Parts: sequence; structure tokens; C-alpha cells
Amino acid sequence: MIVLGIESSCDETAAAVVEGNCVRSDIIASQIDVHKVYGGVVPELASRNHIVNVAPVIETALSEAGVTLNELDGIVATSGPGLLGSLVIGLQAAKTIAWSTGLSFVGVNHLRGHLLAARIQDEDGTPVPEFPYMALLASGGHTGVYHVRNWNDIQCLGETRDDAAGEAFDKVAKLLGLGYPGGPVIDRMAGTPGEEVLFPQALRQKKSFEFSFSGVKTAVAQHVGHLDGPPTDEQMHAIVRGFQKAVVEILVRKVVLAARQKQVPRVVLAGGVAANSGLRQHAQMVCEENDLTLFAPPRKRCTDNASMIAYAGLLALEAGERSGFDISPKANWPL
Ligand SMILES: Nc1ncnc2c1ncn2[C@@H]1O[C@H](COP(=O)(O)OP(=O)(O)OP(=O)(O)O)[C@@H](O)[C@H]1O
Ligand SMILES: [Mg+2]
Repeated sequence: MIVLGIESSCDETAAAVVEGNCVRSDIIASQIDVHKVYGGVVPELASRNHIVNVAPVIETALSEAGVTLNELDGIVATSGPGLLGSLVIGLQAAKTIAWSTGLSFVGVNHLRGHLLAARIQDEDGTPVPEFPYMALLASGGHTGVYHVRNWNDIQCLGETRDDAAGEAFDKVAKLLGLGYPGGPVIDRMAGTPGEEVLFPQALRQKKSFEFSFSGVKTAVAQHVGHLDGPPTDEQMHAIVRGFQKAVVEILVRKVVLAARQKQVPRVVLAGGVAANSGLRQHAQMVCEENDLTLFAPPRKRCTDNASMIAYAGLLALEAGERSGFDISPKANWPL
């Protein structure tokens, strides 16, 4: 099956063509420059930019894949969770194409896309995980541990009680004046060797798979408030290293605990925070210590992209799932 997927749940307008679990094209129009001056995503601006970007992104995805609409077997779009004004643009584009061409159409859960992204085969032949696997999904809006038994049999074992991990990266970067999005800049700074400030890891001793990141954010703010003046470069690096360590250690601890408890031999990283070098390294080390095999998708497939949506939608279409043209975007859509 060859499927066109469209993703517009937040601030990336993306379209991709996949054939089975191989990517034929993967196009993203990022809006980071639009939102960076505001220190976060402005929903109204995101919607307006999706309108401008959606048709060119689809056209480029089709031409790079070397296919026409006639050669597709279906079209899919993210239908939630996400910003309603953003979701509606990609979803409406997909419905319009499906209505006018007669192509099969299905709405896709964005989180399912993230959780299945590791199963997309890359050209370099890196092995992809078999089912079942234990997945850590850590993104801008969600953080949780998911037992993925099959593409359509996914159980959430625990989520964050407050902020998502990516949100914590973004908020801490904002309070330190490091810009938006915070993840990549903190990742770079934390990768330099040196001292680190010790920050708390909430719910560390709890056997549950819940997280909480509002405390570490407050701890960073309080630490900065107690300094004699604005942090020096050295102090800033020590704060960032300590913050990243606190977040990364708790994320890895919980997903490994879950894999051991459920006797699942594989761990998968997913979501924007899975692009973090510190997380990938620490997860690799702890998985090796626990005889678990780690699968971390390439960084471009951790942050929002349309290939993961196209692939998740392709599996649904292959299983005979179809959505009607009356489906609406959903701001919240738990798996
Ligand atoms: N290298 C990195 N280290 C840490 N965090 C990162 C890195 N790269 C991106 N992020 C974070 O990932 C988040 C974006 O991830 P993603 O695109 O999956 O989120 P989203 O789609 O906005 O949220 P959701 O998927 O929950 O709807 C941002 O919070 C960003 O700071
Ligand atoms: Mg996402």
C-alpha cells in the first residue's frame, strides 16, 4: 500500500508518502521562526500558517515520492490530539482530497504515530523493533509509559501528573533566556563537560509509571532566584546539565522499570524529547545493564513529522479502518 499522510497538530505542516514501512518522501514546513519571538506556539498564527503551507507541502511530498494522487491507496491525517485550529487544516485537506478522488481515508491519533515511528525502516537498514515493546513517549504535550503490544493494542501505564517533559525543557529554557524551543539548546549546552546542580526527581521511589515535572521547573527558578546576580556562563551550564540529568534519569528509570515488570525485552523512545542526546545515551546504558534492547528512531522522526502519521494510518487502512467525512478534530484523544 502507498499512503499520503498529513500532519498539522501543532506548529509543523508536514506531508509524507510511505509504502509499507518505508518512506518515499517526508516534507516538513516548520513554523519555529514564526513562534520563536513569542517564546511558544501562538495557536492563531499556527492555523494561519498551516493554511499557507498545506497545499505546497502536499504537492512536494507527492512529487518527491514520484507518485500522483491516482497511484495512492489512501490518504490519512492527524485528527487529534492537538490544537483544534491547527488540526482542522490538515484534516480538511485530507478529507477534500479523499472526497474528490475517492481515495480511502482515515483519521490518525498523533500519539499512535509517535509510538509507531520507531518501526519505520530507514535506508541504512537499522533494525526496527518487533512487538511487543515498552515505549517512553516524551513530547511537548505528553509524557508517559506505553505498553505497545501491537499497532492497535497500546496501553498507557502512567502519564505525567502535570507538565510534559518537553514543556519542562521549553519552560526552563524560557526562564533562563535561552529561547524557543528549549529542548535542542539545552541538549547542546548539557552535552559539555562540567559541574551540575542537583535537582529533584519527583516520584522517583514510587513504583507507579507516573511523572511530575512542575517541581524541577520550580526548583530551577528558585535556584536562579537565590544567585547573587544573573547566572554566569559557567553557572548557566551547571543548571542546564543538572536539569537535563534530573529529567532524563527519571524518564529512563520509569520505562525500564515498566519493561522489567511486564517482562518486555525491548524499549522504544518516542516524541520530541527522544531526540535528546543525553536521554539516548543514558537509555542505552541502562537498557544494556538490564538486558533490554533499545530502539531510538532517528531524531527527525522523534519530533513531529508526517511519515509516522502516514505509517500509522497505512496500518489502519490495511486493517480495513475508514473514517467518515464527518469526523472532527479532537483536542484530547487518549490512546
Ligand atoms: N534535543 C532535544 N532535547 C530535549 N527536548 C527536545 C529536543 N528536541 C526537541 N525537544 C522537545 O520536544 C518537544 C516537541 O516534541 P513534539 O514535536 O513531539 O511535541 P508536540 O507534537 O508539540 O507535542 P505532542 O506530540 O505531545 O502533541 C518540544 O518541547 C521540544 O523542546
Ligand atoms: Mg508530537
